Amino acid sequence: MPVFKHEEKLSPEYVPEKLPYRETEMKLLFSFFSSILSDERPFHVRVYLSGAVGTGKTSLAKLFGQSIEQEARKYGRKIRFLHINCRIHKSLYTILRKVAEQLQIDLPRRGYSDEEILEIVAKFLRSNGVRLILCLDEVEALIAEEGGGPVYLLTRSGEDIEDGSLLSLLLVFRELDFLERLDSQTISGMGSNNIHLNEYTRDQLLEILRYRASEAFYKNTISDEVIEFIAEVASERKDARYAIDLLWRSGKYAEAEGSDVVTAEHARKALASVYPTIRRENLSYLSKDEKMVLLAAARGLSTNRTMITAVDVFQLYKMVCEELKSDAKGYTTFWETLQQLQDLGFIRLSVVSEGAKGRKSYIYLPGIPAQLLEQELMKSLSRNHGHAFS
Ligand SMILES: Nc1ncnc2c1ncn2[C@@H]1O[C@H](COP(=O)(O)OP(=O)(O)OP(=O)(O)O)[C@@H](O)[C@H]1O
Ligand SMILES: [Mg+2]
Repeated sequence: MPVFKHEEKLSPEYVPEKLPYRETEMKLLFSFFSSILSDERPFHVRVYLSGAVGTGKTSLAKLFGQSIEQEARKYGRKIRFLHINCRIHKSLYTILRKVAEQLQIDLPRRGYSDEEILEIVAKFLRSNGVRLILCLDEVEALIAEEGGGPVYLLTRSGEDIEDGSLLSLLLVFRELDFLERLDSQTISGMGSNNIHLNEYTRDQLLEILRYRASEAFYKNTISDEVIEFIAEVASERKDARYAIDLLWRSGKYAEAEGSDVVTAEHARKALASVYPTIRRENLSYLSKDEKMVLLAAARGLSTNRTMITAVDVFQLYKMVCEELKSDAKGYTTFWETLQQLQDLGFIRLSVVSEGAKGRKSYIYLPGIPAQLLEQELMKSLSRNHGHAFS
């Protein structure tokens, strides 16, 4: 007997019918966008939706989009919600092309400027009485590429004396310092249209997993004990995506073994399959200096940031050296160590162009929870190098 009833309901793209613990935020979205739904002349609305990895930003945005389109029909209005991921569509130009495509506007291939396409889209909205909510997900990627200009342009477009504003924005992002990096001009007047999603607690993750498991698995094929185990493990990261991924993988291991129940051992195998680099023995091969640099990166990222600049890690590294009464190496050596750590698969380096401000190097941890890595490194450093952390 197979364990999965609807495996596809655990896929990353699937949007569940409800999102427990996000009801308040859903209501808030409706109230922020109420002008679009009920006013004869809607005004431009811009909402910022933020939260760490796997807090449900994308799902909430998409579910809201479906709901408001549905609600609009009751009001006899045409609302279109378009979700665009800026990590895939990184420029205003490709975003606008995508918008036109989704609205089935025929754009000749030849080179239109951004403003021209925007004007064509605005015209389409006006003549068809369509109100557009454009959701730019992972909008950091667009800002990193083109600065705050595109958001500014989108904010001002679609204004029309008679029809009001037909284009509104829902901007979704992870990092909290994102708003500061936007032009002050762009964000002026944004007021309180901010929604921040807090990380899920262990108990919330447990409830979410129970709900998602009941949709995806046949009854009695996965015990509550196994679900609790996954919630426990996933709560280290407070990341619902990770939790659901583990749930799905556990099912896959059960399926591969032809088992008709998902056991704790399947869950452990799932877990082992997503932690390839945290093995203790791997850490013990590192030199002391490599460990200290890695520790600095882990500390910098343990506050739930997705990435941190090399310059910031260098500052943290100097603090680690001080703590361990060890001499800090210069920046060049530090940089070489970072590259070494990248070659070994512990970190990932990425150089991002920041428009006129030049380029910055960012550091990521590919799939290793920073806090766990930090703990392991502290243990390893005090074990092998005779230091005790205070
Ligand atoms: N409250 C919830 N109830 C049920 N499932 C949820 C809930 N929140 C998140 N999920 C699920 O967790 C996974 C991650 O959610 P989502 O992709 O929306 O997070 P995100 O905040 O956009 O993450 P990222 O920052 O990585 O883009 C999805 O599979 C989603 O369906
Ligand atoms: Mg997302």
